[in-house]
Amino acid sequence: MKFFVDTADVAEIRSLAATGLLDGVTTNPSLIAKSGRKMSEVIAEICALVPGPVSAEVTATDHETMLKEGRYLRAIAPNVAVKVPLTEAGLRTCKALSDEGTPVNVTLCFSANQALLAAKAGAAFISPFVGRLDDIGQDGMGLIADVVQIYRNYAFRTEVLVASIRHPVHVLQAAKLGAHVATMPPAVIRALFRHPLTDKGLEAFLADWAKTGQSIL
Ligand code: G3P
Repeated sequence: MKFFVDTADVAEIRSLAATGLLDGVTTNPSLIAKSGRKMSEVIAEICALVPGPVSAEVTATDHETMLKEGRYLRAIAPNVAVKVPLTEAGLRTCKALSDEGTPVNVTLCFSANQALLAAKAGAAFISPFVGRLDDIGQDGMGLIADVVQIYRNYAFRTEVLVASIRHPVHVLQAAKLGAHVATMPPAVIRALFRHPLTDKGLEAFLADWAKTGQSIL
């Protein structure tokens, strides 16, 4: 399973990339706004920090402008993946950019039929939003199960990128379903490392070690 971080905070990305466990980054207009920085600059900086795909989202809603924006964003760095919304214009743009060899991440997916359309449009990634579905009392992870099954049925190459992840249990469930990618806020990635028994066990090991008076180096 690939791990992407869902942020435009360069310091967080730098720190997580240092673990060697970060495969890519996703951003969206809200995250860019939160960074308070110029989009093209922050995307270029992020692309230099991680070798994997960095999703940069278009903000136009009509096909022609989306296509121009997508080409502009793709020219920032070779590892930019253009993110488009799951609308008719977005999928038309997805098809056009994919035909040019640009990886496209189709975002704001809330149904399996939408995911089917994105795969047919040649998307490199589909981003179903699990947390936002859970928020309104729907089954976010049920959607992931459906999309994984549908893509397997037809051997679509589109990767299922689980988005709007809120906690580590979402990551566990997505991994059990065989989703290709989880994009997580930095705090969720950091939470995956932690277990109270790890802390307790390490504390005991170190206390016993100190009693020996030894040092490895
Ligand atoms: O970047 C898309 C997605 O991960 C947004 O998550 O928490 O705003 O629903 P959230």
